[in-house]
Amino acid sequence: MATNSTRPFGKTADGQPVTEYTLTNKNGVSLSVINYGGIITRLVTPDRSGVQEDIVLGYDSLAGYLKTTPYFGAIVGRYGNRIANGKFTLDGQTYSLAQNNNGQHLHGGVKGFDKVFWNIQEAGRGKLKLTYLSKDMEEGYPGNLNVEVTYELTDDNELKIAYTATTDKKTVVNLTHHSYFNLTGNVKRDILDHEAALYSDKFVPVTKVLIPTGELKDVAGTPFDFRKATAIGLRTNDKDQQLEFAGGYDHCWVLSSSDSIKHAATVYEPASGRVLDVYTTEPGIQFYCGNFLDGSITGKRGVVYKHRFGFCLETEHFPDSPNQKSFPSTELKPGEVYKTYTTYKFSVR
Ligand code: GLA
Repeated sequence: MATNSTRPFGKTADGQPVTEYTLTNKNGVSLSVINYGGIITRLVTPDRSGVQEDIVLGYDSLAGYLKTTPYFGAIVGRYGNRIANGKFTLDGQTYSLAQNNNGQHLHGGVKGFDKVFWNIQEAGRGKLKLTYLSKDMEEGYPGNLNVEVTYELTDDNELKIAYTATTDKKTVVNLTHHSYFNLTGNVKRDILDHEAALYSDKFVPVTKVLIPTGELKDVAGTPFDFRKATAIGLRTNDKDQQLEFAGGYDHCWVLSSSDSIKHAATVYEPASGRVLDVYTTEPGIQFYCGNFLDGSITGKRGVVYKHRFGFCLETEHFPDSPNQKSFPSTELKPGEVYKTYTTYKFSVR
């Protein structure tokens, strides 16, 4: 059975206290979360000899998270990933969002769900329930959106995330989680030796500003073929237009569009033996390899986060879905319940 504990995690500039909640399971695996951004600040798992180390990037204290952070560990919404030109239309009405990334809208805007206070309740041993009310027109999105995210740490070393949302006006929703993993333990080096498998035949090609072209492309014969586990660094510097546009892997892979939970990815780190498996009900998974990390951030334990020191596996709908009629829909209407599940499972080989 997991145990729960809390500790103060500093105060925001306007004096609001932040609390860190820690869940620990019977194997000593632990997960820490703060009520600011719903951020996972620490995730400690054993290597193959049982050494417990932190496998996510982040900061030692709140101050780092309050500065501009590249979404370390956060809940991302109302729309995770990009919306072209920050515009979309619902029932003939055009909505304008912040153009906070190369003229495009990214990760919910200037003050997305990664920068708001979540109400956290302990929902039994090993389980936290986070809730947030995103008001009508917050960051330009229509509808009062009631969001609930639960984090559950099981004794099988799984982090189970469930996302629920309801609205009182038609809107778009695409929630995801933005942990940067580094399975070496306490971030010893970059992630290029990690071996990744993505159980997907197709990916979503993008333009120079990382907006989907609208097609879904076969991975066969491209550096995007991860159907067999391959070292992340093997092809990331290949001469390939898609890799050049994104500076490496920063793309959405297509999963089956069925609502059932499916195995999306496995990442293995040969030196520590750590394995991360991802399962999701979502139709896509964004695999981002820390191409924008450049050594300007010093994180936990004084480690400098250089180029490709972490990877994200963001389970989600495809980028720019509100403007791409052929993509699975991200619309949510009053009376409907948005519900998605993602499991990150930790093991060793
Ligand atoms: C996502 C995006 C990336 C980048 C990171 C944050 O993964 O796809 O392009 O914006 O978030 O730096």
